[in-house]
Amino acid sequence: MRVTERTLRERLFLLLVCLSVLKGDARYIENNEISKDDLYSFFNPEPKREIPEELLYRRPLRCLDMVAVEGQFTFTAERPQLSCAAFFTAEPNEVITVDYDNVDIDCRGGDFITVFDGWVMKGEKFPSSQDHPLPVYERYVDYCDSGSLRKSVRSSQNVAMVFFRIHNAGSSFTLTVRKHINPFPCNVISQSPEGSYTMVIPQQHRNCSFSIIYPVEIDVSEFSLGHYNNFPKRSIPGCGESGDFVQLLGGNGIDTSKLYPITDLCITFTGPTHMKIGCENTVVRMVSSGRFVNRVSFSYRLLDSQELQSIKLNNVEDFCFSN
Ligand SMILES: *[C@@H]1O[C@H](CO)[C@@H](O)[C@H](O)[C@H]1NC(C)=O
Repeated sequence: MRVTERTLRERLFLLLVCLSVLKGDARYIENNEISKDDLYSFFNPEPKREIPEELLYRRPLRCLDMVAVEGQFTFTAERPQLSCAAFFTAEPNEVITVDYDNVDIDCRGGDFITVFDGWVMKGEKFPSSQDHPLPVYERYVDYCDSGSLRKSVRSSQNVAMVFFRIHNAGSSFTLTVRKHINPFPCNVISQSPEGSYTMVIPQQHRNCSFSIIYPVEIDVSEFSLGHYNNFPKRSIPGCGESGDFVQLLGGNGIDTSKLYPITDLCITFTGPTHMKIGCENTVVRMVSSGRFVNRVSFSYRLLDSQELQSIKLNNVEDFCFSN
């Protein structure tokens, strides 16, 4: 731990020196001591970019709400509201922090505000428990349990949510939502039904999912799994045994571990793949052994109602329409 910290600091120091040499003022570095704080500020992915509080966007929070912008959101109960939820989203390469402010609720009377690291819909979670770095219980942070100890919660991916229950009219609280750059995004829920994305897993033993909660046509344009280069001739029976592969999944929930595998892409991949998937949720999931740098690029667009109808009539992908 200590060693890593030191080598990182040295690397940063080197970086600072190189930068100033490039600018031709190396003397500046020699004559000035760089404090440890300066070095650590390099760590901060977005130093001092934070919007000052008085300039933040503000609006009331509704009992069922979707928030895609930074700002301050205040919920005030006009009557008992026992089952509320707000969903937060950011760009794929961002994570979200949620801060509690001015909380005036009756914890003892059964009120609660709970932030969840991910989304829960119809009892299913995204990211699935298998793909999330934290155990499930650590993904819930309850205001009443943690009290003033934890006023800020940071998500692990571009989505988060808040559940709350308020019994008394007049009770209220404010949430401050901010976004931060995530240099290594893993699990993502797409904010829109069309777009393109490149998923990279840099030599990590983990699995990442990109979830599109719409019926879409998906087009995998390119992918490279490290073993392509290392073992080009050896044929591996079935993707599962290769340890590194890309899955296309579909279904009607958001838990990727409960979705149906539509196809696996590994060593047998021969060219661009286009596919129309008429499910409510379409997922590109990459399984990574950690031995290679894996990458997959794809684009997607919403299916129109005619395309959806013909998929239904052809009776393919029954599992998409089973409920
Ligand atoms: C990734 O997924 C594969 C197959 O679904 C599984 O066998 C493996 O244990 C997972 N790896 C991690 C780190 O969760």
